[in-house]
Amino acid sequence: MSQRKIYVAPSFLSADFLHLGEQIEMMNRSQADWFHLDIMDGVFVPNISFGFSIISQIKSLARRPLDVHLMIIDPDRYLERFAKAGADILTVHYEACTHLNRTVSQIKSLGMKAGVSINPHIAVELLQDILPFVDLVLVMSVNPGFGGQKFIENSYKKIRRLSHMRQIMGLDFLIEVDGGVSPANAKQLVEAGADVLVAGSAIFGAENPLKVIEQMKNL
Ligand code: DX5
Ligand code: ZN
Repeated sequence: MSQRKIYVAPSFLSADFLHLGEQIEMMNRSQADWFHLDIMDGVFVPNISFGFSIISQIKSLARRPLDVHLMIIDPDRYLERFAKAGADILTVHYEACTHLNRTVSQIKSLGMKAGVSINPHIAVELLQDILPFVDLVLVMSVNPGFGGQKFIENSYKKIRRLSHMRQIMGLDFLIEVDGGVSPANAKQLVEAGADVLVAGSAIFGAENPLKVIEQMKNL
């Protein structure tokens, strides 16, 4: 369909943590491009996930870049520790950063790619002045905190508007979409301008996760 590279990033939030090693090995054998890790602090979102030691252990087996999505307040306190734990891409929330420009440049100076994420109620236009500095924008297509939620349809419009901004500003950041993504809406999301498809329950909840990833890679 398109010449652009489409990235698929399975979200390990929906993985079976009793068999995490096997799940990582399975993803290493898949067409997945990045491994998406959701970090939740129980404050920014009403859920708590996992932290540095799990990230480091995943890093030791993973043969893909770690795409770490921080759903935490005041992420500045921990940027260095996420770098040390093995994050390759570090995404912070727009809503959680008072000095976003400083946070983004610190992420980059620690050798990671920098992403900024927005919740469903935040307009992409608010990102205009940070866009020249980021490697990635993550559009949340559910209210963050949990896997397995229903995709919010308004996200298509947001991705289209963001893709248009990228074009008129002459920028090349990637557009990532996260929440309720599956083979059923992947093509429409890519057509709207998404480059990176995050999927948790659609991949890890499937009988054949590798097949689902393959479907999303070959739209
Ligand atoms: C939600 C997380 C997502 C989540 C997606 O707050 O950011 O990455 O794992 O799960 P699904 O794909 O099941 O909606
Ligand atoms: Zn996520």
